[in-house]
Amino acid sequence: MIQAIERVLISEEDLKGKVKELAKQISEDYANKDLLMVSILKGGFVFAADLFRNLSIPASVDFMAVSSYGASSKSSGVVKILKDLDRPVEGKDVLIAEDILDSGVTLNYLKKLLIQRGVKSIKICTILNKPDRRKADIVADYVGFDIPDEFVVGYGLDYDEKYRNLPFVGILKREIYENE
Ligand code: IMP
Ligand code: MG
Repeated sequence: MIQAIERVLISEEDLKGKVKELAKQISEDYANKDLLMVSILKGGFVFAADLFRNLSIPASVDFMAVSSYGASSKSSGVVKILKDLDRPVEGKDVLIAEDILDSGVTLNYLKKLLIQRGVKSIKICTILNKPDRRKADIVADYVGFDIPDEFVVGYGLDYDEKYRNLPFVGILKREIYENE
């Protein structure tokens, strides 16, 4: 698994520190609110679990699964809901916890959808942000790390469903996805 990695971009230690920082800020900002954290499957589950455990305020969590890149390293731009939330979000202070804000197509779509469903407030927290790749008009309210335009894996992020369990974020060797 490690042999497929060109280099480590963000270490396990740096991820841990950043998650603590984000959780502290979110715990302050949502102290008197009814926080529902929405984790986007599959990529967002590792970060969401770490973030959720570090919150010091009452909070609930729900999950939504959306279609991703499949076996390709490029986005199709199509967002499909594979699993919807279990409960209504009306009146909730929703915080979406995501792995990466890339083109922004996915989060732009989800944000609009949840607004239509009558949330009280909605914010986005992403551990990784690729600002150079943005297509949709969307900004994250909480960002862990801005990263360059490289295809990364680990800490929940996959290539063809692999590498999600790496404890760090690494740049995937080009040879892995270039001979598709
Ligand atoms: P979007 O382009 O912002 O809609 O990103 C959609 C999804 O693409 C993210 O939630 C990730 O699952 C996936 N993705 C984007 N960039 C990368 C990457 O560098 N590595 C792995 N998955 C990625
Ligand atoms: Mg994802």
